Amino acid sequence: MIVANWKSNKTLVEAKQWLGVYKQQVEENKKTVVICPPFTLLSAFSQELPLEQIGAQTVSSFGMGAYTGEINTAQIAEFAAYVIIGHSERREYCREDDALLAEKVKVATQAGLTPIFCVQGNETPVPQGVKIVAYEPIWAIGSGKAETPEHAEEVAAEIMKKNNVEVVLYGGSVSADNVHSFTQMEHIGGVLVGGASLDPHTFSQIIAHA
Ligand code: PGA
Repeated sequence: MIVANWKSNKTLVEAKQWLGVYKQQVEENKKTVVICPPFTLLSAFSQELPLEQIGAQTVSSFGMGAYTGEINTAQIAEFAAYVIIGHSERREYCREDDALLAEKVKVATQAGLTPIFCVQGNETPVPQGVKIVAYEPIWAIGSGKAETPEHAEEVAAEIMKKNNVEVVLYGGSVSADNVHSFTQMEHIGGVLVGGASLDPHTFSQIIAHA
């Protein structure tokens, strides 16, 4: 499984250019690829790719109603099958805590969305119902210094042992050059890619090498 996290990047014009190149570059393959663009681009993505290849980057813990600025599960489910929950940037900049994140997992799962739950190590609590976990050491995110595959494998194995999850991804400075060193590991089922997913050529290479 290869997940792209665009974070707060790209306008509609830029996303359309990316999709044009990506659809030409990416070859038929059996890997699960999920792209998580900002909310503003979900609609455009859903016109170009199947729902099973699209994810959101967060979700409201509230339902429909008077919650200014929030985007709820039903609104996301029209455009995407997955949602990233608990990314360290949301924990830090938006002060999302373990209790709120557990609530988000609950409402997302109830709406039929599949959470991709981010943890910083095997100490981070994983809420009930999570099937896909992404292990992302904070220091490796956007730093160009990835975790060693051997240590990521150890942590992935511990996460699987401790929680009833199906897939553990590795995230943090994944590139076309290092992706295979992670995906070849027994307990690592794929990668979560930030910066390197913003270029469609690079991201297509990551998929090919994974
Ligand atoms: P990065 O980000 O690939 O740019 O290190 C990964 C992430 O934060 O999900």
